[in-house]
Amino acid sequence: MGNRKEGALLGKVRHVLFATGNRHKFQEAEMVFSEYGLSVERWDVKRLEIQSESLEDIARISLAWLMREAHPGCPFFVEDAGLFIEALNGFPGPYSSYVFSKIGNKGVLKLMDGVKDRKAKFVSVVAFTNGENVIVFKGEVSGFISYNVRGEYGFGFDPIFIPEDGDGRSFAELSVNEKNKLSHRAKAIRKLAEWLTSSKII
Ligand code: IMP
Repeated sequence: MGNRKEGALLGKVRHVLFATGNRHKFQEAEMVFSEYGLSVERWDVKRLEIQSESLEDIARISLAWLMREAHPGCPFFVEDAGLFIEALNGFPGPYSSYVFSKIGNKGVLKLMDGVKDRKAKFVSVVAFTNGENVIVFKGEVSGFISYNVRGEYGFGFDPIFIPEDGDGRSFAELSVNEKNKLSHRAKAIRKLAEWLTSSKII
């Protein structure tokens, strides 16, 4: 069998599910997967999200819960992320989702009122299973909290996060493609995609 045909065949079986209710996260992941010729489908399923100091624990427990309660019968992954603000000792970190829903970007900017040290980072943890084993990948991006809400794209804290290695625009001022060149999630998912293509697990 020729290489191209073989590649096309492999392309068909290289398929995983991303368990997320967040369409923005899915769009980001889909774009990264396509760089590797992998296909990913959104699995819009309710999942257990425990409160913990550790993003890795949250992701692992969420994955284990889905494996037990709703296993889709094919490889899948979950992702958990958080914004860690240095001057606030890492707050909101693993509580980002709750904090965003309660006080939003304006509330965080209020907490940062008069704070000169604007350093922050986003961290993403991806937990993947082929049905038997679990593997975890992490990605991080350093940056700064802006002084005001900027941009229309993306979701969550994107309008107040300015990546250090960018051109001064906030994540919400970048296209998905541009955000993927820098983001915590793209880094974690790229590690997963690289592992999937090199280990030939799927
Ligand atoms: P989750 O628990 O992983 O869904 O994410 C926690 C919260 O962190 C989300 O509700 C968002 O507010 C925020 N967050 C995570 N990743 C990002 C991102 O890439 N951009 C902006 N906000 C994010």
